[in-house]
Amino acid sequence: MKLNIAVLPGDGVGPEVTREAVRVLRAVSDFCGYEFRFEELPIGGKASVELGSPFPPQTRERCLASSAVLLGAVGGPQFDSLPNERRPEAGLLALRQALGCFANLRPAIAFESIASCSPLRPERILGANIMLVRELLGGLYFGEPRGIAADGKSAWNTMRYTEAEVERVARVAFKLAEGRRKKLVSVDKINVLENSRLWRQVVNRVALEFPEVTLEHALVDSFAMNVITNPTRYDVVLTENLFGDILSDETSVIAGSLGLLPSASIGGKVDLYEPIHGSAPDIAGKGVANPIGAIGSAAMLLRHSAKLYAEADSIWVAIEAVLKSGMRTADLLPSTEKAKACTTEEMGQRIAEHTVEALNSRMAYFAV
Ligand code: NAD
Ligand code: IPM
Ligand code: MN
Repeated sequence: MKLNIAVLPGDGVGPEVTREAVRVLRAVSDFCGYEFRFEELPIGGKASVELGSPFPPQTRERCLASSAVLLGAVGGPQFDSLPNERRPEAGLLALRQALGCFANLRPAIAFESIASCSPLRPERILGANIMLVRELLGGLYFGEPRGIAADGKSAWNTMRYTEAEVERVARVAFKLAEGRRKKLVSVDKINVLENSRLWRQVVNRVALEFPEVTLEHALVDSFAMNVITNPTRYDVVLTENLFGDILSDETSVIAGSLGLLPSASIGGKVDLYEPIHGSAPDIAGKGVANPIGAIGSAAMLLRHSAKLYAEADSIWVAIEAVLKSGMRTADLLPSTEKAKACTTEEMGQRIAEHTVEALNSRMAYFAV
């Protein structure tokens, strides 16, 4: 098994958490005798300042030639004065577009061992396992026209979807639901937006291809409340780009921390894996960030891009075992116990060791 992985550490905590994800992938390839090659490439704010572009042509070319892309995070207040097209976030959006990965999978699981880390009551969240599928290449993020008036007194963005864009992401979500608890909720704002009318029509049509899956529609405002008050009610959640961005940060509260959530962006020429969090400027450079979102993204890479199911599962076994052992990065501890926190590197090392142990004992686990 050979994999050429493009590694884009980016800004802030991006390089810190990505290093740990690569450590775990190396542990898998060493143990199994695979050939994983890693090529580091610039993206984001640092690339913009040093190379004049947040998504340099060389990065684009190498990513498109790779087996999969693993990204850390981009952004930070030091880049706020850059013009819009040179902002770090523009680089990430251009990467997603160049790869063509339109379905962004953002799983949120309430692990029993850290149920007390969530501000939500344990009895509410235990058993929660949500797979949010966010459309990634349409909606307000990419719709034209967009702009700001010459006098600076008005600005506009366009929320636009075509039938084909809704259909392809809906199909991904229904297929996932078929392999899970066969429940899908599609989240929209049909009471206000024409766009949501189209969205709902297309989702209803795709549903006919998946008779085993129970489909429910929900309005985004009340869903935002229901998903944290009753998270175990949901299985697969399908929604458009901006709603999905916001709702996935919200579902991280069910898991316990934003630093825990991984993601896979699939359906493109090459697929992209990144934690859902940002560059976390408030903790960057301190070696305290939680690397589990990045390591979980590496597990998703093995599953979706390499079809290495047992290997991917072994990483999840390791993540849960390490959390069960009581090891905690600072984000998982109350303010009075922060002194007990482990570092990003310690967490990464322990997960890498446990991954090898799990592979050794060929433990089967659930799939994300
Ligand atoms: P953020 O996700 O960077 O941070 C929000 C909060 O969560 C912060 O308190 C941070 O310390 C905490 N946090 C995030 N990741 C963590 C981790 N791994 N471990 C522990 N705590 C963690 O969001 P923000 O502060 O709103 O944005 C900062 C920058 O990141 C902005 O420039 C934004 O555009 C960018 N951003 C990038 C991505 C990405 O690259 N995919 C995603 C979101 C935000
Ligand atoms: C995310 C981020 C990005 C998004 C930004 C940085 C462009 O918030 O991946 O969730 O909005 O998609
Ligand atoms: Mn986001």
